[in-house]
Amino acid sequence: MWNEKQMLNYLYENLKENKIKHSLSVSETAVALAERYGANIDKARISGLIHDCAKGMKDEELIKAAIDYGIQLDEVYINNPSILHGLVASIIAKDVMGIEDEDMLMAIRYHTTGRKDMSVLEKVIYIADYIEPLRAFDGVEELRSLSNIELDLAVVKSLENAIKYVISQNGLLHTDTIIARNYLLSKNSRWEYEKW
Ligand SMILES: [Fe+2]
Ligand SMILES: [Fe+2]
Repeated sequence: MWNEKQMLNYLYENLKENKIKHSLSVSETAVALAERYGANIDKARISGLIHDCAKGMKDEELIKAAIDYGIQLDEVYINNPSILHGLVASIIAKDVMGIEDEDMLMAIRYHTTGRKDMSVLEKVIYIADYIEPLRAFDGVEELRSLSNIELDLAVVKSLENAIKYVISQNGLLHTDTIIARNYLLSKNSRWEYEKW
């Protein structure tokens, strides 16, 4: 497996500066969340660092990488190939950087859409990507507070924000996002949810 300096060099060679800053910020935020919720700190730091390593690729490159990997492209991917960057990042993490840890690969792969029954590490990376200090959007402070108290509900709220945003853009929703939200919501009581 590559060391973190090699991974960072990869980012410097393949991402714009603002995305490198974001990646470092996600990595730091993921460490803090991992400490809080008992995920593996090294896995959180590294997954956070490289989660967007495919973000600099063009749509055609993302599509080609996914097809080469044997992924069936549905209408959501074809309409919005950029959401493939998580999947392609997990391919790079495995095949180029030599990461074999399945939990890390899943956390990288699903950081954009979420999925049913995410592990703690997957939730940590999903939320870290959403609330890292460089992010600025309406409601981000509430999400930061919530993420310190109740990880599952922070993920639900973030999934809902993402769903609302996609709808506001007349975009196609990925079913993984809907299923992730339904799953987490059904596991948590109405009372807890309505408190927020
Ligand atoms: Fe991303
Ligand atoms: Fe990101």
